[in-house]
Amino acid sequence: MSTPVKIAGPRPGQDYQKELARDSRPVPDFLKLNAPDTSGPDEVEIYKYISREYHDLEMERVWKRTWQWACREEQIPEVGDTFVYDVGPLSVIIVRTAPNEIKAYPNACLHRGRRLVDYDARVTELRCPFHGFAWNLDGSFRSMPSPWDLPHVEREKFGLPECKVDKWGGFVFINMDPKAAPLADTLGVVPEHFSRWDLENRVMIANVSKVMRCNWKVSQEGFLESWHVAATHPQFLASFGAITSQYDVFGPVNRTLSAIMGDSTPMLGRSPSEQEKLDSLTIQYLAGAQGPQVPEGVRARTHSAQQGREYLKTVLGPKAENFCDAELVDSIWYSVFPNFTPWGGPGVRQQYRWRPWGDDPEMSVMDVIVLAPFTGKRPPSAPLRMLGPDQSWREATELGSISLVEDQDAFNLEAVQKGLHMTAAKTVTFSKYQESRIRHFHRLLNEAMARS
Ligand SMILES: [Fe+2]
Repeated sequence: MSTPVKIAGPRPGQDYQKELARDSRPVPDFLKLNAPDTSGPDEVEIYKYISREYHDLEMERVWKRTWQWACREEQIPEVGDTFVYDVGPLSVIIVRTAPNEIKAYPNACLHRGRRLVDYDARVTELRCPFHGFAWNLDGSFRSMPSPWDLPHVEREKFGLPECKVDKWGGFVFINMDPKAAPLADTLGVVPEHFSRWDLENRVMIANVSKVMRCNWKVSQEGFLESWHVAATHPQFLASFGAITSQYDVFGPVNRTLSAIMGDSTPMLGRSPSEQEKLDSLTIQYLAGAQGPQVPEGVRARTHSAQQGREYLKTVLGPKAENFCDAELVDSIWYSVFPNFTPWGGPGVRQQYRWRPWGDDPEMSVMDVIVLAPFTGKRPPSAPLRMLGPDQSWREATELGSISLVEDQDAFNLEAVQKGLHMTAAKTVTFSKYQESRIRHFHRLLNEAMARS
């Protein structure tokens, strides 16, 4: 008689919480929270992914009015450093105006409307390349050619309008809406849940963006559930808790907790050895290569966590001893509306973001940065590697094994966009629990789009 396959559905999060109960260290309370919420829509209309009209309205009601991660503080370390944040046809200039002050302006010259800044640079003023109108870093008007010919321009009223700016965890956020509520309302529990991981004192060791031929929501939704891992990333079947992942909603944010090398991998159909669990995480696994050996009688999960702890002790000091196994090995990732997915943990972690690209509802860009702890003086940040729609994520060798995973995802996501034009259905349909983060996202999107 075969053993019945365990499923997460009837008791969401139960398998993940069982892993936490076996942890070799005390588990922080926020990981023990199990907060399922399936209240978002069952179905979403297909026009939302392909329609020009919907895209235009998103620009007005979502992108011009929400807090968005624009850059890392480390990308503008010195006064005068500028960063251009583009989202669809919109563009914002982020400027460090003083050692402890960052400002942001709509990226347009007030003379004839030219995009004011084209490239990230270190400057002493913001000068339009068209006629040479210039503004000080603080946004006040500085100079123009032929002032005798513009007697109607009042210098005091000709300052650049400002976008709102705030920071969390080394991320710089902007909001184009001067009446926006504080960033804290958008981040919800994230600062509290991430307080052990100190993302501020991290350095970008990889910074890769790729243009994708799909709507930004198609791309993002591919990362809001883990059950596709079994079909899309089968190399992880022995180690990834694909259908045993836990999905939570906390007010404006949601999260997934997926056990790595845990005890519950029902989609494999058999129990893998501890060695196979560890091997399956290496990029050479599909070619039959073995990774480092797991000592006899030790769980791969416990072994990997201890190795992570030993490494982190050399960077973070003795406090690394207190991190639990889950923090060191599991996939823990949150979503902040509309497009930011911070991954949690004390070690090397990727961070994701999705943006509309150009002014085309069927094009987007996915941004992946990798943050790592460091000792001593802050190392230089990785420069941006920009991949076009025909380039492979695997060209970004600095992403390591993530690059193969991203290519596997891209293979589906662009095909989803094509299929949306051909499906006989008028909607896409979401599962109740495993796609509850997508439901939550659409609940927030509907709320944003309903605002006048
Ligand atoms: Fe995936």
